[in-house]
Amino acid sequence: MSTGKPHKSRKANFPAVSGEVTKLINALRVKGTRSVCFFNNKGGVGKTTLVANLAAQLSLVWGLKILVVDADPQCNLTQYVLSDEDFIETYRDSDAIKSIFSVIHPLSIGKGYSATLPVRKIPSFGFDVVIGDPRLALKEDLLAQDWRDAKSGGTRGLRTTFVFSDLIKKATNYDIVFFDMGPSLGAINRSVLLAANHFVVPMSIDIFSIWAIKNIGDALKIWQRDLDNGLKLAEDPSELPKVTTGSRPSFLGYVTQQHKERLEKDGTRIVEAYNAISKTIPEQVKQNLNHLSIKNSDPHLGDIKHLASLAPKSQTLHTPMITVTLKGSYTGLRKQARTLYQNIGTHFLKNLVAGAR
Ligand SMILES: Nc1ncnc2c1ncn2[C@@H]1O[C@H](COP(=O)(O)OP(=O)(O)OP(=O)(O)O)[C@@H](O)[C@H]1O
Ligand SMILES: [Mg+2]
Repeated sequence: MSTGKPHKSRKANFPAVSGEVTKLINALRVKGTRSVCFFNNKGGVGKTTLVANLAAQLSLVWGLKILVVDADPQCNLTQYVLSDEDFIETYRDSDAIKSIFSVIHPLSIGKGYSATLPVRKIPSFGFDVVIGDPRLALKEDLLAQDWRDAKSGGTRGLRTTFVFSDLIKKATNYDIVFFDMGPSLGAINRSVLLAANHFVVPMSIDIFSIWAIKNIGDALKIWQRDLDNGLKLAEDPSELPKVTTGSRPSFLGYVTQQHKERLEKDGTRIVEAYNAISKTIPEQVKQNLNHLSIKNSDPHLGDIKHLASLAPKSQTLHTPMITVTLKGSYTGLRKQARTLYQNIGTHFLKNLVAGAR
């Protein structure tokens, strides 16, 4: 676990960390490493952008030690944070890649958990990553098959299911471990969700995101019940403390993502349908995720404005939105991004501290 000092990834040119945030960081560090995954089975709702930019806020600006795991076989997060040269160099030789695949592959050939974490520093974002790997998709079958075994208490099945718990257990020198996930309710995501302390739901304001809230609530209920059965039936109970973290995922909150503002005849105005859906979200969250929520906390972590060209520009420059240094229209957008991630970051830390038992 890290000390109370800011990590050296913090850049000196950011304003001093406020008293409120310093208190939250100190309270968090007493609790040990926390793990948080970002999940929505709907695609393109801004998960990866949120994970990378929120993690940059926490590490670059506030000095927390963050590990980001790219658990999406699409590898969008990895592509975002690595420079183009690094990316090509890294993936040139598939045998030499140290990635999320190296974490899970030894299990499938009967070698147990990998001995070390393949961690890589990303100075431009301030955090470390376990880079993604398209071959992770090939392990979806392994995780699905072994899940059947896990549900009936098989040692092999439980070991495979808890592969991400093992990763988290090895990340003790980080304050927070983040997982970026692909948009599915498949076996990889099930293992990530069941391993993490908390999950955050990034969502766009549309009808499918409302469905997604329900899907997540329903899926987690069934998975947790099946896993609890498997743990009760474990053929080798002495193995369990080695594989489980003993944690149950709780709902840390949701982040809404605004659409591009629609122009109407009388000026710029958000359309009615958007407003109507937006109003139903708190109730839907309550109905479907209340039992997993953190007591006395507001789950709405923030509303992400459409930051226009700043988002794609930060992707091509491989830098967080808050450090895109271009001038012109980018000056105003960068300012908005700084306020936005500062507010979301503060709310996120508050809920994390409240939820850490
Ligand atoms: N605040 C924002 N302002 C403008 N564009 C944004 C913003 N956030 C994300 N985007 C853009 O929206 C697109 C989808 O975002 P992102 O890749 O983060 O979604 P995702 O949920 O991770 O997608 P997937 O489900 O494929 O993993 C990207 O092109 C990104 O640049
Ligand atoms: Mg993504």
